[in-house]
Amino acid sequence: MLNTLSPITEDLASQSYPSSHYLQTQHRIRSLIDKYIAVEKLHDRLQDLPIQFANPQPRPWKPIDWQTISRNQIIGLDAEVFLSILIGAMDTEAPIRGYTQTSRQYLELHPQMARFVGGTVGKDGELLELGLWEKEERQHTPALIKIYTQLTGEKITPKLRTVRSYLPTDDAKEDLYRHGLHRIATEYGATCLYIWLMAHTTGALQDVLEELAQDEINHMTKFWGFGVWTFPDTGLMGIGRTLIKTRSQNYQRNNLMRTLRRMMGTLNWNAWSLTNKTTLLFTFTYTMHRLWSWNNTLTPEYLQDLFETN
Ligand SMILES: [Fe+2]
Ligand SMILES: [Fe+2]
Repeated sequence: MLNTLSPITEDLASQSYPSSHYLQTQHRIRSLIDKYIAVEKLHDRLQDLPIQFANPQPRPWKPIDWQTISRNQIIGLDAEVFLSILIGAMDTEAPIRGYTQTSRQYLELHPQMARFVGGTVGKDGELLELGLWEKEERQHTPALIKIYTQLTGEKITPKLRTVRSYLPTDDAKEDLYRHGLHRIATEYGATCLYIWLMAHTTGALQDVLEELAQDEINHMTKFWGFGVWTFPDTGLMGIGRTLIKTRSQNYQRNNLMRTLRRMMGTLNWNAWSLTNKTTLLFTFTYTMHRLWSWNNTLTPEYLQDLFETN
């Protein structure tokens, strides 16, 4: 019986448990992070960026057996909570076009990155070519909708929020810095959420979340590495200050705390069990720990090598 892998070996989070308490879930999260957010993986994703500058190619998804997605593939998480997280995630993912075009404008100082994120526009502002980031991200909302429909038999349309538009000050570099940090923080938030959801699923449902997580890890890594190259002299304190600081004139632009509060609201955080909350916080911490180890290997020479020749 060659290809009858037991469900235990098929599960992407190393091991399934019949019940899932704090320690089991934490073990699954840890093995997912060790596998998908390994330092070598992060290097690989960043080294891919100059290749994508030269010849943009969307990362292909593996085939997914959508028909088999069912509620019994949810582990250790109330199905209703899972559904409200799906809704929260799709409301945060959409409308991707708005996000890419705002980011493209902040990136005008870096044409290659601007193209990667937001494509190219003509003289009258018409979109001539999609950015790679948009091509990959625009698959996310439909995938979440498909999961939702498969689990509930109901159709759903995401709320289309209005995206904060491009609001430049007289300091383009500072604008880019603030915008970029915010962008990285959103990709990081999405990465952690999808990894956490992978730890609470199995089968085809987990397969979809794996693709979403891999896309977010890919983008987060590229934005982060590019950010470190563009702003080499920023310490941890500076980052923290920028993220938390609410300058009144900048309030309309990027306020991480506001974004987080909105996200937690849409994810129906109040209905989560204590174990759910603690394991999500663990995911955030352990992922950041891993990113920080990788960050410390991003020497100026390495980044120079990567980006200068291109
Ligand atoms: Fe996404
Ligand atoms: Fe993303």
